[in-house]
Amino acid sequence: MSRNILAVSIKKNRRVLLAALLAMLPTINIAYAGTTELYNQSCVTCHGAAVLGAPKTGDKAAWSARMKKGMPTLVKNVRNGYKNMPAGGLCTTCSDADLANLIELMAK
Ligand code: HEC
Repeated sequence: MSRNILAVSIKKNRRVLLAALLAMLPTINIAYAGTTELYNQSCVTCHGAAVLGAPKTGDKAAWSARMKKGMPTLVKNVRNGYKNMPAGGLCTTCSDADLANLIELMAK
């Protein structure tokens, strides 16, 4: 019986629940920074203008030589730091998948 009441009240409040879920979406988005946000937070500092000899974002010639090393090697080099690039490319929260997405974005 009490279960039925709960079911009915959930049914009645479905719109409210949906609205509450939708209202939460922006919060969820803040928790997950997209590739562009991550790029703007870290990589752009050097790769936006070839600072310290960094391959510039969108410079296909500069990136094609790097891409030949293969994505796993590139991700590892960012993770550990590489020559003038500090470990993680200044992104402390980036996962390996994030780094791969960031590399794809810059090499385009
Ligand atoms: C403080 C400056 C700086 C920042 C910030 C930075 N990089 Fe770099 N990055 C460099 C420099 C300099 C090089 C070139 C190193 C060399 O070959 O001399 C480089 C090279 C690379 C390479 C090529 C590595 C290789 O093996 O040839 C990748 C991939 C890369 N960066 C990715 C990233 C990503 C992804 C981010 C953001 C999370 C990032 N970088 C942030 C300076 C930076």
